[in-house]
Amino acid sequence: MADGDTELEARLVEQEEFEPSEEFVAQANVSDPAVYDEFEENWPDCWERAAEMLDWDEKYDEVLDDSNPPFYEWFTGGKLNVSYNCVDRHVENGDKNRVAIKWEGEHGETRTYTYQDLYREVNEFAAALRDLGVEEDDVVTLYMPMIPELPIAMLACARIGAPHSVVFGGFSAEALATRMNAADSRFLVTCDGYYRRGDPLDHLDKANEGLDGVDHGVDATVVVDRLGDDGFDHDLKGNQHDWDDLLDEHAGERIDPVERDAEDMLFLMYTSGTTGQPKGVKHTTGGYLAYAAWTSHAVLDIEKEDTYWCSADIGWITGHSYIVYGPLALGTTTVMYEGTPDFPNRDRLWDIIEKYAVDIFYTAPTAIRAFMKWGSRFPEQHDLSSLRLLGTVGEPINPRAWKWYYKHIGNEDCPVVDTWWQTETGGMMITTLPGIKKMKPGSAGPPLPGIDAQIVDTSGKQVDAGRAGYLTVNKPWPGMLRTLYKNDERFIQEYWQEYSDTDSDDPDDWVYFPEDGAKIDGDDYITILGRVDDVINVSGHRLGTMEIESAIVGVEGVAEAAVVGGNHEVKGEAVYAYVIIARPEMVVFTPELPKTRSGKIMRRLLEEIANGEELGDTTTLRNPEVVESIQRQVESE
Ligand code: WTA
Repeated sequence: MADGDTELEARLVEQEEFEPSEEFVAQANVSDPAVYDEFEENWPDCWERAAEMLDWDEKYDEVLDDSNPPFYEWFTGGKLNVSYNCVDRHVENGDKNRVAIKWEGEHGETRTYTYQDLYREVNEFAAALRDLGVEEDDVVTLYMPMIPELPIAMLACARIGAPHSVVFGGFSAEALATRMNAADSRFLVTCDGYYRRGDPLDHLDKANEGLDGVDHGVDATVVVDRLGDDGFDHDLKGNQHDWDDLLDEHAGERIDPVERDAEDMLFLMYTSGTTGQPKGVKHTTGGYLAYAAWTSHAVLDIEKEDTYWCSADIGWITGHSYIVYGPLALGTTTVMYEGTPDFPNRDRLWDIIEKYAVDIFYTAPTAIRAFMKWGSRFPEQHDLSSLRLLGTVGEPINPRAWKWYYKHIGNEDCPVVDTWWQTETGGMMITTLPGIKKMKPGSAGPPLPGIDAQIVDTSGKQVDAGRAGYLTVNKPWPGMLRTLYKNDERFIQEYWQEYSDTDSDDPDDWVYFPEDGAKIDGDDYITILGRVDDVINVSGHRLGTMEIESAIVGVEGVAEAAVVGGNHEVKGEAVYAYVIIARPEMVVFTPELPKTRSGKIMRRLLEEIANGEELGDTTTLRNPEVVESIQRQVESE
């Protein structure tokens, strides 16, 4: 983080306000505004409300143990099992025939798992894992695309108390090896391949290459046969097992859910930091699940009768919390789609919403901007009237995209929740409660009840409304990461050092720093301005690249933009804007922006091009070919 005053004069598009409909409010899970005061007055006991959404084998002694900050413990002494909470209890409570997972493959094939089906497969796979030698606390790596076996494997791990580490299926062999090495993981579940834009991809080849890079050797690998006759020629090696064979072998077996301590690790999720070594974010059994369930209930307004769809990939935290754990803890129907939104046509997502009468849809702004660029005629081909609530996550949403989503997908009837959170926070932190709060496009909203978020300057002092500063979280919350795996020191360095008195054992002296810039308005609504490493300094003025992007995409005809800082003799830094426009007959600066497989713009590369520097690693790009053409254009200027 750079020094100095945080004057980032915000000039966002003037914010309009939208109220949720009376109809929505009348049915909302949380609609009494008193919830904010209740949580504040009763903090931290207010979090019992989240814990009470779960079934505990043994009740906790204490809601929060803050005696050793920042190593907070939640619901200490409590015992529970996550797979019991996401599966068994619904079977026992009369919902065994309710659909748990509705899966659609890219070619249109579907698979439906009731809670009873899920119960059977989770048990059988848990038995198989045990048989392969997986013991409590062994880390099992899951390197899989969006197929039902992924959540089944996650829940089977949870059942036997083995933390999982899901590695996004699009990541490279090297990324897999790095993560398995870092977690000392000796077990892998993967698959032969999957479909992308209609074609089968060889996934096992990549997995095998990754396995070669695992230093400590691997005890067993399980391979799901996803492609059937389209599969590639692979012979399974000695310690590699076919998923279906294992389930056959363990047919009908039942495994008692292991009693886990509330603070026992549920999973690890590696997320990239600014340095090369990924950070192993550790989440726990009690606090994480309670937080995922509570936010799914309060923000996503999920009820078990709903059909709910989050279009993220389970390889990211969004999929963990809001495809798998939150929704299944609530006993609802969660939709999974294997493929891309434009296969076979650009109306694929709207087709799925219509087909399954989806009630709640949660997606990313980058996807919404793509939909906008493709045009409203695609959603218009479908009946989307089943929708009740829309959500976004992952990056700031510019008001124009917000309004497009609200209008063309939600028919101006569905509240939109713009949810700010991170891998590290486990669940949503800043957003509107849709049955209570008005919406302001472009602004995520106030901190959720019980969350103490502030906007501060470099000295940690709160900034005035309208001024830009840094986002901090000043009190712990149940879904928070507990540490970075086997690296308490880096945990403190990355997230706490900036604003905490690290010598103190008073929790009030400990402040979590998410490394995002933000500003707050008079209603306590927080607008996220982007990662602070995306802030540039032009003539002594700090400008949020997200903010400028937001202004550019506000111009008629512009679909998407990426803004970076390039060196400038006089101004220090100058703004480089890469712009794609909607109508191809106009001047096109670039046909595409270089993106990672998860859809995030690789600003670092654009920055290197702007500075005429040698380009760094482009292997994680989805579309490496666009880089050269952008580079040529910039150089010929
Ligand atoms: C950004 C994804 C603006 C932010 C759940 C954060 C957002 C990072 C929003 C975390 C939002 C996430 N508005 N920015 N609604 N949601 N971000 O770990 O910069 O993949 O720090 O978690 O995404 O990304 P992560």
